[in-house]
Amino acid sequence: MPTHEVIVPLNARHAPRDALARPMRDLRISVMDRCNFRCPYCMPRETFHDQYRFLGSQERLSFEEIVRLARLFVQLGVRKLRLTGGEPLLRANLPELIGDLSAIPGVEDVALTTNGVLLARYAAELRAAGLKRVTVSLDSLDPEVFKRMSGGLGGVAEVLEGIEAARRAELTPLKVNAVVQRGINDHTALELVERFRGTGVVVRFIEYMDVGNRNHWQPELVVPSKELAARIGARWPLAPLQPGYRGEVAARYAFADGQGEVGFISSVSQPFCGDCSRARLSSDGMLYTCLFGTHGTSLRDALRGGANDDALLELVRSVWLRRSDRYSELRAQLRASTHEERKVEMFYIGG
Ligand code: GTP
Ligand code: 5AD
Ligand code: SF4
Ligand code: SF4
Repeated sequence: MPTHEVIVPLNARHAPRDALARPMRDLRISVMDRCNFRCPYCMPRETFHDQYRFLGSQERLSFEEIVRLARLFVQLGVRKLRLTGGEPLLRANLPELIGDLSAIPGVEDVALTTNGVLLARYAAELRAAGLKRVTVSLDSLDPEVFKRMSGGLGGVAEVLEGIEAARRAELTPLKVNAVVQRGINDHTALELVERFRGTGVVVRFIEYMDVGNRNHWQPELVVPSKELAARIGARWPLAPLQPGYRGEVAARYAFADGQGEVGFISSVSQPFCGDCSRARLSSDGMLYTCLFGTHGTSLRDALRGGANDDALLELVRSVWLRRSDRYSELRAQLRASTHEERKVEMFYIGG
């Protein structure tokens, strides 16, 4: 039997805890660094222009490599896989990968984050391959505001069709993520809530974050979730809900009239590093232990250099054991240091 087929039993001995005692539960896999949008808060056009050098297909992990690594992460405690990008639906034959990942024993949840433009085309196929649910990014229903936030690409109607196709394909619970920027789309937040209240789709508002170092982040553009929750609550009274699971990123609130829930992801005003159990794999196989990380570890080089499964497990475990990231909790301090210039970009590492 080839070494990579050896099955190591799932037990606590193999599940590392990092330097802050956090387990590794969630692996976010970026399958594609390209995107068909140019959201200024993520891939501003002036940097990500036609001549920008994205990864070549040989540089990206193959499906076989991704699946092999995912199996190893599961042995180290991961139970949830999320495919991200860039835009993951730009990766050819993605349903094939989803089928293989869903079949890994121990995987409890496989989800996908997409901008929704290609979702109507692929929803049924993704579901048939084993995908459980999708999260769609949609920052505004106002066509002009949407265009501004997507960098002029895509359109509200296409994204809504994608959401509808996902609902029909039962890719649920279906979530909509909206990044909020003051003076840019915050005035359209209530409209988003109104559109999805009572439909089963959960809208979650994300505070604009200082990911990477090319999005010209300014704290003044952040709308603290408390402020937004108060505005929403004044129109539709809200009651806090318990987290759905330990370490949930979004704080959840129910509409008092029973019309569903809304969530707030408040990395800036209320950091949630304490329970962060997320590892991130870039499309070229770099392992990062924080969204705001500066240094990755190339699992691809190890893999292509002939490392066997035990060696790869040891490599990932050693990275996790050393992990002490808590960027959001240390934001002010780290922004004033050289950490700032070295942060990886979000389109590359996944959202
Ligand atoms: P569920 O599994 O549906 O609860 O969602 P999730 O926690 O996997 O969240 P999702 O991928 O929808 O993340 C929503 C957004 O939250 C991401 O796009 C990021 O903007 C932000 N986010 C997710 N994880 C982290 C994290 O570890 N740190 C920070 N600062 N932000 C995060
Ligand atoms: N701040 C907050 N969220 C962001 N995303 C991308 N860039 C940022 C940022 N600067 C979100 C997108 C999408 C997910 C992939 O990450 O809106 O929902
Ligand atoms: Fe693409 Fe998502 Fe980044 Fe927008 S936020 S540019 S849709 S990866
Ligand atoms: Fe996790 Fe880093 Fe986000 Fe904190 S800032 S929650 S450590 S990814």
